[in-house]
Amino acid sequence: MKISIASDHAAFEMKEFLKEYLIESGYEVTDYGTNSDESVDYPDYAEKLGKSVASSETDYGVLLCGTGIGASIAANKIKGIRAALCLYPQMAELARQHNNANVVVLGGRLMGKDICKWTVDKFLNTDFEGGRHQRRVDKITKLEE
Ligand code: RB5
Repeated sequence: MKISIASDHAAFEMKEFLKEYLIESGYEVTDYGTNSDESVDYPDYAEKLGKSVASSETDYGVLLCGTGIGASIAANKIKGIRAALCLYPQMAELARQHNNANVVVLGGRLMGKDICKWTVDKFLNTDFEGGRHQRRVDKITKLEE
């Protein structure tokens, strides 16, 4: 499975930690930056990551900023992206089951390493349930028109 990962400076260290974890777990990971803790603007990284997932270059995205809020707002402006801010594993599970989210967004300044790891694991290992949820996701897609 191919995964895009990106963050701003506020979550750079957490992004590096998760990148290593995902590679060790056998995922093919593409890192869209940032590459240091020097201050940058999170929409630039949300855009790069969102476009890679929306164009099917990769299957899912793992996106971070300090809170996860700015990055998720920005990523959700990209057509085809359903970015879910998930602060703990159950949110990630439901984001996949009900919302067919294709980007998990984490708050690097709010979450510990283990919670980030467990949240990403849950996200990448949960299937969309379809059924009534498909109808609702289709309505979200229509809002992009
Ligand atoms: C950067 O200082 C911070 O504003 C950003 O990482 C994020 O939390 C925005 O939503």
